[in-house]
Amino acid sequence: MDFESLVASRRSVRGFRKDPVPREVLVEVIELAKRAPSSMNTQPWHFHAITGAPLELIREGNTERMLAGAAVDREITMSRHGYQGVHRERQKEIAVQLFDAMGIAWDDKERRQDWVMRGFRQFDAPVSVVVTVDRALAEDTVAHFDCGAATYGLVLAATSKGLGCVINGQGIMQSSVVREHANIPDDEVIMTCVAMGWPNEEFVANDVVSRRVDTGEVANFVGFDE
Ligand SMILES: Cc1cc2nc3c(=O)[nH]c(=O)nc-3n(C[C@H](O)[C@H](O)[C@H](O)COP(=O)(O)O)c2cc1C
Repeated sequence: MDFESLVASRRSVRGFRKDPVPREVLVEVIELAKRAPSSMNTQPWHFHAITGAPLELIREGNTERMLAGAAVDREITMSRHGYQGVHRERQKEIAVQLFDAMGIAWDDKERRQDWVMRGFRQFDAPVSVVVTVDRALAEDTVAHFDCGAATYGLVLAATSKGLGCVINGQGIMQSSVVREHANIPDDEVIMTCVAMGWPNEEFVANDVVSRRVDTGEVANFVGFDE
């Protein structure tokens, strides 16, 4: 697939077939992801590909804690005020698109809760790839940037092999559960995770195309001829 088609056709996949993903495919995907550029070539990232029994334990642990109303337990910080303004609008827009596709009414608390719980279960994907940063650079926002670049590389590489992915914060919202069952070393900090597997073609939310703001709103061209 050429690069333009790859980027244009990728979308977050939240419904997967049960079929396992061979380890060799994941190795190839990670080989491509780690070609991402990083500040001074520091390569501060690590990829922990998890499947089988450890992933089941993570799903169970996440579910149990979220149902018990446990406080968010992330290793990276997020704004304490949540998203506001245009960011909140965009957050709502994608939620509406996904719920519409799934036929979930906005006031259907039960089905909305089910949807949220799917996220904590890594959307029942056969694989979750946990992305971590070296603790020595965990306070360094440049290293976070590097991990973001590598994570998008991971997703594009996986997409090019027919896999579906969703980068998700839900899977690491109870990071101590993930840390325990994935054996994350103490000198790494959990950044995010990517649910990955072969897309379930019948899962309608996989067809949702998220909107992007116009280029004129995000790009500024200086010194060009009009
Ligand atoms: C850092 C990050 C965290 C995300 N967390 C979640 C999540 O917890 N649950 C979810 O369903 N999608 C999550 N997403 C996916 C976004 O909702 C998605 O990328 C966005 O709506 C754009 O849609 P697209 O990926 O289909 O283009 C996350 C994406 C990123 C980059």
